[in-house]
Amino acid sequence: MRKFISACALLSTLLTGGVEAAEADHLFVWVQYGPDGIEARAVTSQAACPPALVDGVELAMNERSAPGDAYPVRGCSLLLKAATQSASVQGQALPLPKPHPNRILVIGDTGCRMKGAIAQGCNDPHDWPFSRTVEQSVAQKPDLVLHVGDMHYRETPCPVDKSGCQGSPFGDNWDVWKADFFDPAEPLLHAAPWVMVRGNHEDCRRGGKGWARLLDPYAFDVTKGEAGCLPTSASFNVDLQGVTLAVLDVSTALDHEDTGQVDWYRPQFEQMKALKGPVWGVFHRPVWAIEDYINGSPIGDNPNLARAARDALAPQVTAFISGHHHAFEALSYKEDLPIQVISGHGGDELAMHVPPITTGMVINGATVDEVAIRTGTFGYSMLERAPDDATGLHWKLTAYDLESRVLAICDLNGRKLACQ
Ligand SMILES: [Fe+2]
Repeated sequence: MRKFISACALLSTLLTGGVEAAEADHLFVWVQYGPDGIEARAVTSQAACPPALVDGVELAMNERSAPGDAYPVRGCSLLLKAATQSASVQGQALPLPKPHPNRILVIGDTGCRMKGAIAQGCNDPHDWPFSRTVEQSVAQKPDLVLHVGDMHYRETPCPVDKSGCQGSPFGDNWDVWKADFFDPAEPLLHAAPWVMVRGNHEDCRRGGKGWARLLDPYAFDVTKGEAGCLPTSASFNVDLQGVTLAVLDVSTALDHEDTGQVDWYRPQFEQMKALKGPVWGVFHRPVWAIEDYINGSPIGDNPNLARAARDALAPQVTAFISGHHHAFEALSYKEDLPIQVISGHGGDELAMHVPPITTGMVINGATVDEVAIRTGTFGYSMLERAPDDATGLHWKLTAYDLESRVLAICDLNGRKLACQ
């Protein structure tokens, strides 16, 4: 009997250990755009970066970040040629860019909030529904995924009186990045290439070390900044054959006026003048939009981005795509300014006090012309290129909830917006 129990215990240990080892060895792979083009990326706890199989040829992946500093995993990358036909890593196929992407999925603000006494039920997909956002998004068969920032939200321990997040990790470490982003996002990482945008939750006080190691479009250097986390990065551009994305890191753009910040962002808007239009500015914090009132004053616009953009904006910049406000918003303006789209309802606590924004409302000098706002509902947005459009100017924007019911439909035509 004792021998039987010992054998069972040994088997159990082997099985459990085996499961844990398999879990620890789990390999995450994806494709993302960066300043040099498209990159295959991987995160692994294996002893070295795995090779990639690219058009039938085995190529070594580069180690972009070695294990260290609460990250017992290595980040790997491999620049891919634009003409690459097939690529995989250890049998996992990589989704390669389509030459003319027509369906651009926009998700944002997806992590599970744990800060002080405020905590979502991170273990409950109805209270923190990012995995459902991913499931519904995959079913939409996007050609490209645009995450407009704020992936990392578990900053402090789960409060003892909150049953829905007990056992959750917290802080800037791999366990949080895995729970908040990589585990739930994995099916969507396999569905299409991504553009990763840095949110304020990826600044160096929150999840910035993980951002720098794993998702930053630029190279990682542990000797720079705070353990490799830099306060901000330069913009880069993505040519989508008919529309160009200008991706900005506005994670640390202040809500109050700061001349130094205006001087930092102005050239990033100015360089858009040289890009093939139409151009969409893609960055986390919206410019002329509101999320709430405090003491009777609207909040949620960004004065530094507004000043930088007004000084330098090119006419072919037709839209800004952002998150940060935990709702869906689409706005156009009576002044000749880009449309603002906000898709920040991907999983984190929703904004519940967005005031009714109406035609004629003035937000930091921009007068609202057309507007659609949907609050209190989790979801995602899809931008679809109009089938007969050769200019890149005409797109349909649809906001969905997590039953894939339509929340709003808007027609984008250059800087003109018309919503149902
Ligand atoms: Fe944010």
